[in-house]
Amino acid sequence: MSEIAAKLSRNRPFEVEAIGPTIGAEIHGIDLARPLDRDTALLLETALIEHKIIYARDQALTTAQHIALGRQFGELEVHPFRPEGAFPEIMVLDNHKDNPVLSTDIWHSDTTFRVNPTKYSILRCLRMPAVGGDTLWADMCAAYDGLSATMRRLIDGLEAVHDFINFRTLFKDSPEDRGRLARMEELYPNPVHPVVRTHPVTGRRAIFVSPQFTLRIVGLNEDESRAILALLYEQTHVPEYQFRLRWKPGTIAFWDNRSTQHYAVNDYYPNRRHMERVAVIGDRPFFRP
Ligand SMILES: [Fe+2]
Repeated sequence: MSEIAAKLSRNRPFEVEAIGPTIGAEIHGIDLARPLDRDTALLLETALIEHKIIYARDQALTTAQHIALGRQFGELEVHPFRPEGAFPEIMVLDNHKDNPVLSTDIWHSDTTFRVNPTKYSILRCLRMPAVGGDTLWADMCAAYDGLSATMRRLIDGLEAVHDFINFRTLFKDSPEDRGRLARMEELYPNPVHPVVRTHPVTGRRAIFVSPQFTLRIVGLNEDESRAILALLYEQTHVPEYQFRLRWKPGTIAFWDNRSTQHYAVNDYYPNRRHMERVAVIGDRPFFRP
């Protein structure tokens, strides 16, 4: 038992209820609006890494408290493609009749178009339609482990090119927007990430390509790359690897983008679903042979 796990079993500042066998846990008895002491923050991060996505219900946080909570787990991102408001670290996801969703309904790990993609995302529900609007996560470590040894050997050590594919639709075909897009391409040139990523804390391997941000596998011809990516993308569809959360206002979820992918179910249009997100900057992904 690790030191942290031993501490958790001795002196529990909160309860962890596993909901899925390998992914998904509910946290009970915690008030996330208040600053967490160091041990509680560490234990919460340990539970997050172990269960990959954790959530707590009935949390009454202001936007400023949400940011303060995120900062306890590292430096926060400012998302490059979302308009800045009063709180640049907050990404507002407010979808309704006049603002349909943009590509959150494609499986992905957050911001892998960056050299240092998101480590943790912390998403807070402000408003939910009466039905629909769930989020699904897939355990990409279980997805990797579920492949045959031969397939794992084939993809271990491969690399893939990533791109902000979906955000390109935000730019119009005007001289001004073409200039803005060119600046974004300079700021975020296509990074190359390992197809199989080693988790820096657990040492476990996870599939790290997604239909939202991956362009191609380096060193394969186009047909080969497309076939292998399609096979790897299908792993997120396996129910045994998935966890599905029904949101309510006041639900807040933390997930580890190093070991999961997610998909926001787009089944509620034209009703309104309003969320706010902060994201903790991650390290450079790597594969440990
Ligand atoms: Fe996302």
